[in-house]
Amino acid sequence: MDTVLQHLQSQQQTALDELFEFLRIPSVSADSAFLPEMQRCAEFVLRSMIDAGLTAEIIPTNGHPIVYGERIEDSSLPTVLVYGHYDVQPPDPLELWTTPPFEPQIRDGKIYARGATDDKGQVFTHLKSIQAWVSKTGRLPVNIKFLIEGEEEVGSDNLDRFLEDNTERLKADVAVISDTSQYGDGIPAITYGLRGIVAAEVRLTGPSKDLHSGVFGGSVANPVNAIARLCGSLVDETGRVQIPGFYDDVIELSEKEKQEFARLPFSEDSFLADIGSAAVFGETGYSTLERRWVRPTCDVNGIVGGYTGEGPKTIVPSKAAAKLTCRLVPGQNPKTILTALETFLRKQCPPGLTFEFLTFHGCEAFVFDPNSEWINAASAALQAAFGKPPVFIREGGSIPVVSSFQRILGIDTLLLGWGRNTDDLHSPNEHFHVDDFHNGILASAHLWQELAAVRQ
Ligand code: BES
Ligand code: ZN
Repeated sequence: MDTVLQHLQSQQQTALDELFEFLRIPSVSADSAFLPEMQRCAEFVLRSMIDAGLTAEIIPTNGHPIVYGERIEDSSLPTVLVYGHYDVQPPDPLELWTTPPFEPQIRDGKIYARGATDDKGQVFTHLKSIQAWVSKTGRLPVNIKFLIEGEEEVGSDNLDRFLEDNTERLKADVAVISDTSQYGDGIPAITYGLRGIVAAEVRLTGPSKDLHSGVFGGSVANPVNAIARLCGSLVDETGRVQIPGFYDDVIELSEKEKQEFARLPFSEDSFLADIGSAAVFGETGYSTLERRWVRPTCDVNGIVGGYTGEGPKTIVPSKAAAKLTCRLVPGQNPKTILTALETFLRKQCPPGLTFEFLTFHGCEAFVFDPNSEWINAASAALQAAFGKPPVFIREGGSIPVVSSFQRILGIDTLLLGWGRNTDDLHSPNEHFHVDDFHNGILASAHLWQELAAVRQ
C-alpha cells in the first residue's frame, strides 16, 4: 500500500496532464454536432483503461458507446463494479465562461472545464488508483469491472438494455460511483439516497400562424397564455405540487433520519450565498435539506413561445412549449407520475389548442441501508484520504444507473463523491478542486484494500 501511495504522490502532475487531455474532448451527449467527439472520448477512456492494466473494449449501443474493462485477479476476492460517465452537459451559455469550457485551466487551486467534476475528473481518480496498484504491486486487492457510459446526462436510455444483456459479465458484489459531492468544504460524505426523475415536454398549438392580436385577440385561445397557466398550476404559493395523487406513494422521512439531517452542520446564509439567492422557498413544514433530498418537486425547466425580440409586437402566437421535470422520492413510480402529470395538464388545455405531451428519461429514487460492511469499508478509505470520517447524506440529484443496478444486477452502490455542490456542475465555469482530485485518487487507492477485507 505504501509504495502505491508514494507512487501516486510522485505522479500527481502526470495525472493532471492526462485529465486535461480528457477534458479537452468536448463530449456533449445531448448535441448531435458532437457525435465524432463522443467516439474520440470513448477511445480516450479505452486507452486509459488499458494503461491502468484492464482488458477493455468499446461497445456500441443505439446511442453513444459504452466503454467496458475488467481485471479479474481471483474468484475468491470481492468483485467491484465501478461506474462513471464520460459525457458532459452542454457548456452554454458560453459567454459566461471566464476561460473556454474545453480548454482546461487551473486558477486558485481549481481545474476549470466542462466535465471537470461531473464526471471526468471523478472517474479519472479510479483509473489512476488502479493504474498505481497494478504498476507497483502487479495486482489489485479486488476484482474490478469498469463501466463508463456516454449517455448519463441524457438519461442513460440505452444502459438498461446493456445491463440486461450482460448480467453474467457484470456480476459483482457491490458497485462504486463517484458522481456525487462531498457534504461541504472538507467534509467528505457517503451518499445513501438519491432522488429519481421524470422529464417531459408540453407543446400547445393554436392558429396555424401568428395572428394580429387586435384583429383576432380574444376570439381564440392564446397558446402562450395557456402554457403560462398550465405551468403556473403545477405548484401552489406554498411550494406544494398540485398534481392530483402526486404525494400518494411518497414515503415520509423517519423521525430518526430527520434528526440525523438536523445534526448536520448547515448554514442557510452560506447556502444562499453559494447559489446567489435571496431567500429559501419550499414546502411548508420541511427543512431546506429535507426539501432538497427527500421531498418530490415539479420544476419548469424552460418555456418558449411568441415574440421575445426587442420592442413590442402585437400577436396571438401560434405555438408555445414548456419543458418540465419532477424529482421523485422513494415510493413514487415514474410512470404513474408521468401519467398523472399529463392528465392534470391535458384537462386544463383550452378549447382550440392541440395538446402534445412528449416524455423523455425517467428513473426511480432509491435509498440504501447506511449500515453495511461495504459502507464501513468505504468510510475507512475516505477517512484515510481526507483525514476526516465521512458524514452520511442523501442528495437531490439523480443517477439513473443506481436503481438499475439494484433492479437488474441485484447490487447496492457506494456513492463516494469527491466533488462539491459548489463546483458549478451543469453551470458556466464548472470546476474541480485540485486537492479533491488528488485526495479522491488516494481514497480510491485505499478503497480497493478496504473492500478486499469485507467478509460477506
Ligand atoms: N452527477 C450528477 C448527479 C448528482 C450531482 C447527484 C450532485 C448528486 C449530487 C449527474 O451527472 C446528473 O446531473 N444527473 C442528471 C440525471 C438526469 C439527466 C437523468 C440529473 O440529476 O439531472
Ligand atoms: Zn454526473
